[in-house]
Amino acid sequence: MSATPAPRQLFVTTALPYANGNFHIGHIMEYIQADIWVRFQRMQGHQVHFVGADDAHGAPIMIAAEKAGKTPQQFVGEISAGRKPYLDGFHVAFDNWSSTDSPENHELAQQIYRDLKAAGLITTRTIEQFFDPEKSMFLPDRFIKGECPKCGAKDQYGDSCEVCGAVYAPTELKNPYSALSGATPVRKTSEHFFFQLSDPRCVAFLQQWTQDGKLQPEVANKIREWFTKDEDGQGQGLSDWDISRDAPYFGIEIPDAPGKFFYVWLDAPVGYLASLKNYFGRIGKDYEAFMADPQVEQYHFIGKDITYFHTLFWPAMLHFSGRKTPTNVFVHGFITVSGEKMSKSRGTGIDPLKYLALGMNPEWLRYYIAAKLNSRVEDVDFNPEDFVARVNSDLVGKYINIASRAAGFIAKRFGGQLGEISADGDALLEHLRQAFPAIAELYAEREYGKALRETMLLADRVNEYVDQNKPWELAKQAGMDTRLHDVCSTCIEAFRLLSILLKPVLPALAAQVEAFLKVGPLAFADGEQALGKGHAIGAYQHLMQRVDAKLLDALFEPPAAAEPEQAPPGGEELAETISIDDFAKVDLRIAQIVNCEPVEGSTKLLRLTLDMGEGRTRNVFSGIASAYQPADLVGKLTVMVANLAPRKMKFGVSEGMVLAASHGDEKANPGLYVLEPWPGAQPGMRVR
Ligand code: 2FM
Ligand code: ZN
Repeated sequence: MSATPAPRQLFVTTALPYANGNFHIGHIMEYIQADIWVRFQRMQGHQVHFVGADDAHGAPIMIAAEKAGKTPQQFVGEISAGRKPYLDGFHVAFDNWSSTDSPENHELAQQIYRDLKAAGLITTRTIEQFFDPEKSMFLPDRFIKGECPKCGAKDQYGDSCEVCGAVYAPTELKNPYSALSGATPVRKTSEHFFFQLSDPRCVAFLQQWTQDGKLQPEVANKIREWFTKDEDGQGQGLSDWDISRDAPYFGIEIPDAPGKFFYVWLDAPVGYLASLKNYFGRIGKDYEAFMADPQVEQYHFIGKDITYFHTLFWPAMLHFSGRKTPTNVFVHGFITVSGEKMSKSRGTGIDPLKYLALGMNPEWLRYYIAAKLNSRVEDVDFNPEDFVARVNSDLVGKYINIASRAAGFIAKRFGGQLGEISADGDALLEHLRQAFPAIAELYAEREYGKALRETMLLADRVNEYVDQNKPWELAKQAGMDTRLHDVCSTCIEAFRLLSILLKPVLPALAAQVEAFLKVGPLAFADGEQALGKGHAIGAYQHLMQRVDAKLLDALFEPPAAAEPEQAPPGGEELAETISIDDFAKVDLRIAQIVNCEPVEGSTKLLRLTLDMGEGRTRNVFSGIASAYQPADLVGKLTVMVANLAPRKMKFGVSEGMVLAASHGDEKANPGLYVLEPWPGAQPGMRVR
C-alpha cells in the first residue's frame, strides 16, 4: 500500500438552505453526499472543518415572516431550531451550524464589500426597477415573474431561469407580472450598487479560474456558454452584478449607504466563511491564520441550479477582495422520486422526518443515495423497489451476512479469539487490501456508486470463499476445528476490511462493528494491518435489519387529510390549570330546593330557597328562568357553591350559587341544565 499522504486541511460546506422551510429530501441528499466525503477525508487522516448555516436574508423571507405575523429574526430562528432532528437523524455531522444573520456574517460581508470597493470594482448606477403600484414597493426578483429573456421559458423568476440556468435582471423578463398582487409592475428609478464583473480583470480571472480543469467538465462547459456573447453580438458575456436592494429589506446594510442593503446572494456565500469563523470562535482557533494558509483547501458542495453564483460571483468576490478562492465547487443534480421532478419549495413525496419516524434506518438511505451518486451533474432517482433491493441484497445479503455467518463459531468454539489464517485466506484478504487505493480514489472523486460497486464485488469474493469452505459443515466434521477457526477468522478479517470501505457511508453501523470487533475508530490505514491471531472479538449482535417493503408503502402514503379544526369542548377553551388546593377552596354542597318562585321585574332570574342542612335556609338568585318553571324545581336536590361571598343584588342578597351547565355560545346553543346528584345524596354533603 502507498504511504499515508501528509494530512491536509480541508474546509467543506454545503449550500446554505433558505430559512423559510424545513429540509426536504433534496437537502438531505446533498448533506449525505458531502458528509460521506468529509468522513472519507477524515478516515484518510486529514483534518476537515465541515460547516453549514441558514440562509436567512432576502425579500421572500421578509414577506413570509410578515405573513406569519413574526419578525424575520423570529421567523428564521424558528426554522433554524428545527434543523437538528434532520441532521442528527441522518448522521450528517456538521461541526457548526450558523446563520447568515450572524454578527460574523454582517462584519465579513461588509468587509468584503469594502475590499471590493477599494479594488475599484464597485460602482453605482441609477436603474429602473419594477415597482408594484398596488403594493407600493420595489418588487424583489422572486416576486416578479415572466418569460426568460434567454430561452423564452414561461413563469420564470426575476433573477434566474430554472429551465436554461441564465441569470439576468428582472427588467429583462418578457411580459412581467407581480407575484404579490398580479399587477403589471411599473418602472421606477433607484440608485443601485454593482459588482463590476464585466471589468476585464474579472473576466480574465474567471476565464482562468473556471477553465483550468478543476471544475466538472459539464460545469466548465456551461460556464463557457455564459461567457459567450449572443448570436447577434449584442450579448454582454458577463454583466455587472446588481448587489443592492432598497429598504424595506431583511439583510445587511451597505456601509455608508443608508436605506440600501446587500442583495441576499451577496451575503449568502459569505455565510460559509462566517460559519467557519463562528465555529473557530467557539473552539478557540484562529480564523484569520487558517484562511491565510495557502495549504488550506476550500470545497463547496452545491446543486446545479446555483452554479452561476458559486463559480462566477463567489470566486470573483473572494479573489478581488484579496481572499482565498475555492479549491473546487462540486455540483450535483437534483433528486427525483420514481422519475418525478421535485419542487424546490415543496420537496418530493419523501418526507425525511416521516422516514425516521417510521423507524427506517437512516443508513439504508445513505447507502442507497451513495450507490446512485457519481461525480457528474446527474439527477438521482429514488425508486422504492430499487431501494429495497439494493439494501436487502447488497448491504444485508452480501456484507452483514459475512459477519453473521462467522461470528457465532468464533464465540462458541474458539472463546471469541481469532486464529491462524492460512494461505488461501491470506490471498483473499490481500485481494481486498489491494483494492483499497482504487476505492479510496473513487471516494475522493465522489464516485460513490462505483466505490460501493467495487466494495460489493469484494463482498462477493468473500461470500464465494464462505460458500467454498462451508463453515457450517466444517463445524460438524471431526478434526476440522483448525480449518473452521481459520475460515471464520478470515471472514472476520475480511468483514473488518469491508467495514472500513463502507464506513464513510455507514458511520453508525461502523461504530457498532468497532464495538463488536473491539477495535478503535477505523481509518483507511487500518486496512494494512490484520487483527491477527489471538485478537478477541465481542459477542455478535445482529447489525442491520432488512427493509420491509411495507415501510416504503407507508413512507409514500399521503398524509391523512387534515381533520376539520376541532372546536373547543362545550364551545369554550378549558380554563387554566389549577392545583387541588385551588379546587379545595370552592366548597360545593348538596342543597335541596325547598322553594322556588319567579322574580318580579326580572325575566332571567328565579329566587331559590335552599336547604343544605345548616338549620336555616339560604336565598339564592339564579339566572335559569329561561329553562325552568319554578314548579319543576321545588323538592329537587342540586349542587351549590356554599362559600361564595354573599352578593347584594337589585332584588335582595344572594347567598350562594347553584350549578348549571350551558354551552359557551348560548345564543347558538341555547339550553341550561341544573345539576342534580344521583339518588342518595343528602343536603349538606360536600362535593369533592
Ligand atoms: O438556493 C438556495 O437554497 C440558497 N439559499 C443557497 C445559498 S448557498 C450559499 F451561497 F449560501
Ligand atoms: Zn431560460
